[in-house]
Amino acid sequence: MTFFIAIDGPAASGKGTLARRLAAHYGIAHLDTGLTYRAVGHALLQAGLPLDNDALAAEAAQNIDLSALDRDILAAHEYGEAASRVAVMPAVRRILVDKQRAFAARPPGAVLDGRDIGTVVLPSAPVKLYVTASPQTRARRRSDEIAGKLGRSDYETILADIERRDARDMSREDSPLRPAPDAHLIETTDMDIEAAFRAALAFVEKARAAGAL
Ligand code: C5P
Repeated sequence: MTFFIAIDGPAASGKGTLARRLAAHYGIAHLDTGLTYRAVGHALLQAGLPLDNDALAAEAAQNIDLSALDRDILAAHEYGEAASRVAVMPAVRRILVDKQRAFAARPPGAVLDGRDIGTVVLPSAPVKLYVTASPQTRARRRSDEIAGKLGRSDYETILADIERRDARDMSREDSPLRPAPDAHLIETTDMDIEAAFRAALAFVEKARAAGAL
């Protein structure tokens, strides 16, 4: 039986760390679907192409190879903005969602994290988590992470970027960011990663005990 865990939430909510840890805990694969949208934005920017042309973005999406996503390059803050601009395009989403589903279908299963995993990509996933935190907490985390790498960061700019990206992701017509009706909420504003991991594990174990996976 294939074992799926769907995790959604806004930027810097901690969902990626939780997804990685759950995948390691259960010995299953992990796909950060944000990287697939980032890869499309990155490919367009590298080629000097605009971010608002649906046909060019769809072609870039076709060429994305999920086994060759380089987190070290794609995780850069500026590609988050590019990703959210191409992510409003239904043609891009259709292509990437197909690739994400093909990834998840390989036994023994996978943890996928993103914005629409529980609602669109894997609506029948037996465990869905929606991970969130206040914009200020998320901006602080992202700012500390960037300062750790570059020695400096600008909290106010990062907070504004996060709020703009949240608004775009939540208001787009195709697959907006929102919790699936059957998602379990994990609010991490006042939680460290250990506490969030224990909360996530408790939801997954409950589903396992109930025979859902
Ligand atoms: O999670 P991450 O910050 O890497 O995502 C970058 C952007 O990609 C998001 O702001 C969102 O616009 C888009 N995205 C999406 N659907 C997903 C994952 C990411 O629309 N499943």
